[in-house]
Amino acid sequence: MSTPASDAFRYAHAHRDEIAWLSQNTNHLVPPEPIQAAVEAALRDRRYQGYPLATGDPELLDAIAKDFGSRAGTPFLTGGGTEALYMTTRALLGPGDEVIASDPSYLIIHRFIELCGAVPKTVDIYAPPYRLTADRVKEAVGPRTKMILLIDPLNPLGSGYPREEVRAIAEVAHDRRLVLLNDVTYRDFSDGHALAAEFAPEETVTIWSVSKNCGLAGLRLGGLMARPELLQKIARFNTNDLGVNVLAQAAALAALRTKPGWIGEVVRQTRANGARIRDVVAQVPGTSLPVYPSRANMMVIDIASTGVTPDAVQDEMLHRHGVFVRAGNYLSPTHGKQFVRLSFSNPPADIERFATAFPLTIETLRRAATATPRTA
Ligand SMILES: Cc1ncc(COP(=O)(O)O)c(C=O)c1O
Repeated sequence: MSTPASDAFRYAHAHRDEIAWLSQNTNHLVPPEPIQAAVEAALRDRRYQGYPLATGDPELLDAIAKDFGSRAGTPFLTGGGTEALYMTTRALLGPGDEVIASDPSYLIIHRFIELCGAVPKTVDIYAPPYRLTADRVKEAVGPRTKMILLIDPLNPLGSGYPREEVRAIAEVAHDRRLVLLNDVTYRDFSDGHALAAEFAPEETVTIWSVSKNCGLAGLRLGGLMARPELLQKIARFNTNDLGVNVLAQAAALAALRTKPGWIGEVVRQTRANGARIRDVVAQVPGTSLPVYPSRANMMVIDIASTGVTPDAVQDEMLHRHGVFVRAGNYLSPTHGKQFVRLSFSNPPADIERFATAFPLTIETLRRAATATPRTA
């Protein structure tokens, strides 16, 4: 019997000091000092007693605008990128509308689409090049299409979009007057990343976050960017009328200001960890990496040929080895039973724990599967 995801999280949080947390694409490599100093100063000043400026700290808005360049539009702060995704779908979609999306994908966005009465029209991308292409988007567009969901780099596969493909997809959005929802949560991990807003500024809503690049997932800060007309439509659905968390804003400002000094090392270590994982997977029969190298800080390990289920791998790794990876079923209705996903912006010691646990886990579960007496 496999454990439901909520139980796995309860267990992992209860044992968090002992867990190698490879399950949520969080980033454990950012130098803590500047962020902690900024949060401590905000605490000392008891900034938490009053509301923040509702529109956000102007210095933070400025830092975000600089980070993205002017073409992405005006930054708007929300409680994590998740809230920005919710607001955007809510504001721009209605019953019967269709959204071109992929499978695998970050499926909470598909749920938000469905809450509007709209329908995610998924393109199966679990085969090379493991991402959307402009041609496949064009094929999928129909009379009811309202939006294209472009997650770049893509959670869970780690695939990223070459600049020319972003341009071509942006042209489809522009020509057919579709909203292009460009979720760039992982863009700092990707070489030569291109923003869709550069090519379709009027149609693009850019979703950003400081959870992953800046290692601030627990503080819940992100947002969106769009041209004023589109932004106004979306902002009507803002629930944070009184602003987002002051401590999170202080941390994000410190992180963005110092990012040029540390992001190179974060990405270097993340890639080195990815290479170590590739070497481990290469030694385990029946397992493979559909996408390598990842352009993000996560990837998928296909385990279909092992005869072992992703849920069993998640359970065994977590409970026996204290290594938390995720079963794929929450990321793909079609292929979720084939893979586990793990993230690796972690200290190398966490990756070594994976290196020990993964081969043992597959071996143990494989043996258990073949030893189980068959019932008639
Ligand atoms: C593609 C994608 N978008 C958005 C988010 C949400 O991030 P946040 O922590 O900013 O809500 C995630 C989190 O995993 C993600 O993978």
